[in-house]
Amino acid sequence: MPHPVSRRGVLAGGLATLAVPAPPSSAGPAGETLGALATAKGLTLGASFAVHETDGPHGERYAALYAREVRSLTSELELKLSVLRPDPDTIAFAPADRLFAFAERQRLAVRGHTLVWNDDVPEWFKALSRREAGYMMDAHIETVLGRYQGRAAAWDVVNEPIAPWDNQPGNLRAGPFLTAYGEDYIARAFRLARTLEPRAKLVLNEAFTETDDARGATFRASLLALLRRLADRGAPIDAVGLQCHLSSRHRYDLPRFTAFVEEIATLGYDIHLTELDCDDGAFPRDIARRDAAVARLYADFLGAVLSIRAVTSLTFWQLADTTSWLYYRDLAERPRAADRPRPLPFDGTFARKPAWTAIADAIRAMPPR
Ligand code: G3I
Repeated sequence: MPHPVSRRGVLAGGLATLAVPAPPSSAGPAGETLGALATAKGLTLGASFAVHETDGPHGERYAALYAREVRSLTSELELKLSVLRPDPDTIAFAPADRLFAFAERQRLAVRGHTLVWNDDVPEWFKALSRREAGYMMDAHIETVLGRYQGRAAAWDVVNEPIAPWDNQPGNLRAGPFLTAYGEDYIARAFRLARTLEPRAKLVLNEAFTETDDARGATFRASLLALLRRLADRGAPIDAVGLQCHLSSRHRYDLPRFTAFVEEIATLGYDIHLTELDCDDGAFPRDIARRDAAVARLYADFLGAVLSIRAVTSLTFWQLADTTSWLYYRDLAERPRAADRPRPLPFDGTFARKPAWTAIADAIRAMPPR
């Protein structure tokens, strides 16, 4: 199967020694970064990072942007089951090793993404028996946490447990882990993770809770119900991750969403915003107007959500438009298009956009943690 992380780059293994050049002139005063502004308020600010991007022509500038702008990295691909275990006989640790080495060299925290996800399962894994899949879930958690013990500040232990379209009890996502252990796969994964990671924040991460529509309402209700069942069972969950892939195609009722976030907080969990970006596909094509609309959505959304002190961590899904999954998806779907998505605070030259200013203003305005 095609491997998302370049083999050549892995073998070269050069990232640990990659020189990180001075920030581009658009960076502004040295202390003025989203990471520094957030740290001053007690909020951890990060972005997803894909180690293979450092092998590209923009590799050094990409590394420099992260080293300067954020305090935490989420592994976008490197720790996923499909990447770590492309076949039954391989454990491909090299890309994740490179990511940890980079983070440690730059003194950035790591959010490990993700240990158990019913939607990211290699083909060979899908052919396992129920018993084998259960055994493999436990072994995978033990192997990965054993290798990186004490080196990640947080782990997305279970990703996207809800999928109403799978028509399972509790609106749970179908897949080998649910088949192996029933709903208990979730509490089991957290209990096992806790034995190996007594200090890291253990996170249950979920998508699609933000929108003001039937899907959003179903996800919010199903997630709250699941969290209550897990709390009753004493599952050692520290934080709930809300992905927050915002979109120009959806409506948001921010008072309703913040009430939902407050409800999670009253259950005793911290909240991590884990995958923030903005799909701009339905905003005006004119770039100045489009960037302004993206910035406005970030301002409105973060103005509301960061007012909640239980929100302790904010992660963007990549930092620059041209390394976003939305950019790569668009490139694959519309190879000849001239206008590409602009979902993030930095553009393709890694210069700040209006979204950067909107995000910085929202962080400056929020109450300290
Ligand atoms: O690098 C290869 C390239 O060599 C190959 O030609 C191409 C052909 O498909 O694939 C490239 O790899 C892709 C990789 O992204 C890098 O772009 C994989 O196919 C593709 O599956 C992978 O998608 C990732 C997706 O999760 C699945 O793992 C996205 O980058 C990543 O942003 C996305 O992240 C998810 C979160 O984990 C969970 N929440 C939703 C979020 C967005 O979908």
